[in-house]
Amino acid sequence: MKAAVVTSFTEPLEVQDREIPEPGPGQVLVHLETCGLCHTDIHAARGDWPVKPSPPFVPGHEGVGIVEKLGEGVTNRTVGDRVAIPWLGYACGECRFCISGRETLCEQQKNSGYAVDGGFEEYAVASASHVVAVPDGVSAFDAAPLTCAGVTTYKAMKVASLVPTEKVAIFGVGGLGHLGLQYARIMGGVVIGVDVEDEKLDLATELGADYVVNAAKEDPVAAIQALGGADVAMVLAASPRVFEQAFSSLARGGRLVCVALPKDETMSVSIFETVLKGISIIGSIVGTRQDLAEVFELHRLGRTRVIAEGRKLDQVNESIEAVLAGRVPARLVFEY
Ligand SMILES: NC(=O)c1ccc[n+]([C@@H]2O[C@H](COP(=O)([O-])OP(=O)(O)OC[C@H]3O[C@@H](n4cnc5c(N)ncnc54)[C@H](O)[C@@H]3O)[C@@H](O)[C@H]2O)c1
Ligand SMILES: [Zn+2]
Ligand SMILES: [Zn+2]
Repeated sequence: MKAAVVTSFTEPLEVQDREIPEPGPGQVLVHLETCGLCHTDIHAARGDWPVKPSPPFVPGHEGVGIVEKLGEGVTNRTVGDRVAIPWLGYACGECRFCISGRETLCEQQKNSGYAVDGGFEEYAVASASHVVAVPDGVSAFDAAPLTCAGVTTYKAMKVASLVPTEKVAIFGVGGLGHLGLQYARIMGGVVIGVDVEDEKLDLATELGADYVVNAAKEDPVAAIQALGGADVAMVLAASPRVFEQAFSSLARGGRLVCVALPKDETMSVSIFETVLKGISIIGSIVGTRQDLAEVFELHRLGRTRVIAEGRKLDQVNESIEAVLAGRVPARLVFEY
């Protein structure tokens, strides 16, 4: 089978021929149909974060495919099921986080495409307990971006405790943002899309954004404050400066939801403003299996649209460059 492998943090990915893996106890073998390219895969391939993966490894945490083989003891899956392999590849199921609906905080978790090989390959093994069923009516192509971009922004909107008619500023209308803005609308928000590319802002408008701001052409803080300030600002662009702009664009009582994971990890915010304005700063990491099931169900019901273009795995390096240059329509999806 083909696999796109990170061999070093400073080299392009290598497309290699590998043996099809065997599912171990509690695992399934998934014949992948698609896998989205998340900006996190780029951070992973470059070793951007303090906790680094160990090359060689296969990135990808938006893998979707058909269960082809069951490992020993697997009873909850059947050969032929279509499943998604999300970032939360495994969690212990027993710790205080797992048993209180916060499995994404589990300290024993294993992340797909980071700690264990992910979806940039034709076959992957995954924990049977943590793959998520893709319902009939959701295509493998659409399911891929929903598996990280969708669930992450859906969960981020949940933790923002949005009240209908509140203003939600989405900083970065890329893979995550184009779905995030749809969830903000579904939950009753008035949406302000912020990006530095006009094409992304046109897409935001097409997907229902009430206002758009091009941060390369005007100061997003002034533009959003002129609208009364944002009640929720969700940061999806990987730059500390954008976090600071998002913070400054908040109204009193506002919530800054931190989602992007820039390499330079420190932001500077005013303690005085945080206190006087009663601002909350919230970190949000992906979503649970149940969150993903809800994301799939919303899509099955026709409430969301996935904007993406297909690519072949051989195009992995040029695809990464295109994402970094902001030249893609929301998401790229490898099709096998
Ligand atoms: N917290 C989580 O669970 C989680 C999950 C997935 C991804 N992420 C992180 O979220 C970030 C975004 O991922 P993505 O796949 O959507 O990336 P993306 O590249 O598809 O989207 C980023 C968007 O930000 C825009 N942008 C760039 N500079 C900007 C600026 N100064 N102001 C406003 N917009 C700007 C880009 O034009 C692009 O549209 C990455 O850092 C990724 O690692 C976090
Ligand atoms: Zn992701
Ligand atoms: Zn746990």
